[in-house]
Amino acid sequence: MNAPREIAIPVERIGRAAPALPAALPPAGGQGDGLLHDRLGRPLTDLRISVTDRCNFRCGYCMPKEVFDKDYRYLPHGALLSFEEIARLAAVFARRGVRKLRLTGGEPLLRKNIEALVAQLAALRTPAGEPLDIALTTNGSLLARKAQALAAAGLRRVTVSLDALDDAVFRRMNDVDFPVADVLAGIEAAQATGLGPVKVNMVVKRGVNDGQILPMARHFRGTGSVLRFIEYMDVGATNGWRMDEVLPSAEVVQRIAADFPLVPLEATAPGETAQRWAYADGDGEIGTISSVTRAFCHDCSRARLSTEGRLYLCLFAGQGHDLKPLLRGGAGDDVLESTIAAIWQGRADRYSELRALHAADAGLPAPRRVEMSYIGG
Ligand code: GTP
Ligand code: 5AD
Ligand code: SF4
Ligand code: SF4
Repeated sequence: MNAPREIAIPVERIGRAAPALPAALPPAGGQGDGLLHDRLGRPLTDLRISVTDRCNFRCGYCMPKEVFDKDYRYLPHGALLSFEEIARLAAVFARRGVRKLRLTGGEPLLRKNIEALVAQLAALRTPAGEPLDIALTTNGSLLARKAQALAAAGLRRVTVSLDALDDAVFRRMNDVDFPVADVLAGIEAAQATGLGPVKVNMVVKRGVNDGQILPMARHFRGTGSVLRFIEYMDVGATNGWRMDEVLPSAEVVQRIAADFPLVPLEATAPGETAQRWAYADGDGEIGTISSVTRAFCHDCSRARLSTEGRLYLCLFAGQGHDLKPLLRGGAGDDVLESTIAAIWQGRADRYSELRALHAADAGLPAPRRVEMSYIGG
C-alpha cells in the first residue's frame, strides 16, 4: 500500500506560550447531548472526507511541483474507498452525531462521478431524521461544468479556493498556468445553481499574494460570496513553511478596514474556523482563519477521513487510524461505530495551540505530518 509522503521538518519557533490543559480532563463521552466527546470535551459533529489525493493545481503551499512531480506515488485505485464504503462510514458517523460532511481532496471534482457519492450522502439522515449538511471544497477549475449535477445530487454548498484576482498572480500561485476567469465562472455557476452563498478561501502568503487582499475584498463585496482569508499554515512537510511568510489576520483586517470599515460579528456555530467581520456599510461579510496567530483547537469538532480510509484526528496529525481492514474484513456497523467512538474518545490533539512547543529549538523531535492534499482542507 502506498503511504502518504511524510517528511519530518523542524518548525520554527513562534514564541507563544501554549495554553494550559484544564487541570482535570472531563470524562470521555457521555455529556448528555448524545454526541461523542474527546478527552478535551470536544464533540464530534463534523466529518471531512477526502475523495482523491490528486489535484490539477500545484499551489506551492500545498503541492509544490518539486515534490508532486511525475514520479510522485499517488494512491493506487484499489486503495481508494469506494462510494459505498464512504457512504457506509458516513452513516455510522451520522448515527453518532455528525451533522456536517465536507468533501475534499486533493481536488474532489477530479474523482469520477463524484455526484453519485453526493447523492448517496444526501440520502443519509441523522437519528432525528434530518438530512446532513453536505459541502465541498474545490479549486473551482471544473465547477462551471459540474455545478448543476452537484446541486441536483443534493450538494448544499461549495467553498472555492482562490488566491488572487490578478490573472498573472493567480497563474503563479496555482503553478499550472490556470486562468482566474475560469474559477470566477465556476463561482458564478455555483451561485446560479443554488450552491451559494459560496465561500471563497484565499491563503495569504506575505510577499506573494498579499497585494491581492484589497482587490479580492473589493471584487467580492456585495456579491453574496463570503471571502475568507487564511493564514498560511505549516501543514504537511513539503511546503518549506516559514513564519515570516505568514501575514497575521489582524493585519489583513487592518488593511481592509482602512478602505472599508469592518465590525466584528458573532460566530454562527461553535467550533467555527473563521472569525467573521461585517462591512460597516452592510455590503456583506468577510472571514479570517487564523490557525497560526489565534488557534481554534479548543472547540475543534472535525474528524478527517483520508481517501484510503484512515481516520485522522487533526490536520497536523502524523498518523491516522486505518478503518479499511474493518470495512473490508466483514465488520458490522456496530463494530465500526464502537471503534470510531473509542478513537474519538481518546483524542487530545490540539496542534495549533501547541505549535510553539513543537518548535525545533524546544528540543523535541520534529513531528511527522500528513500532507493536506492527502487529508483534505
Ligand atoms: P464551513 O463548514 O463552511 O464553515 O467551513 P469551514 O469554516 O470549516 O471552512 P473550510 O472547510 O472552508 O476550511 C477553510 C480552511 O480553514 C481550510 O482550507 C484550512 O486551511 C483551514 N482549516 C479548516 N479546518 C481546520 C482545522 O481543523 N484546523 C486548522 N488548523 N485549519 C483548518
Ligand atoms: N495553509 C493554509 N491553507 C492551506 N490549504 C492547503 N494548504 C494550506 C496551507 N499550507 C487549504 C486552502 C485551500 C484548501 C484546499 O486547503 O484553504 O483552499
Ligand atoms: Fe490543489 Fe487545493 Fe492543494 Fe491547491 S490547495 S494544490 S488547489 S488541493
Ligand atoms: Fe483541530 Fe488540529 Fe486544527 Fe487544532 S490544529 S483546530 S485540533 S485540526
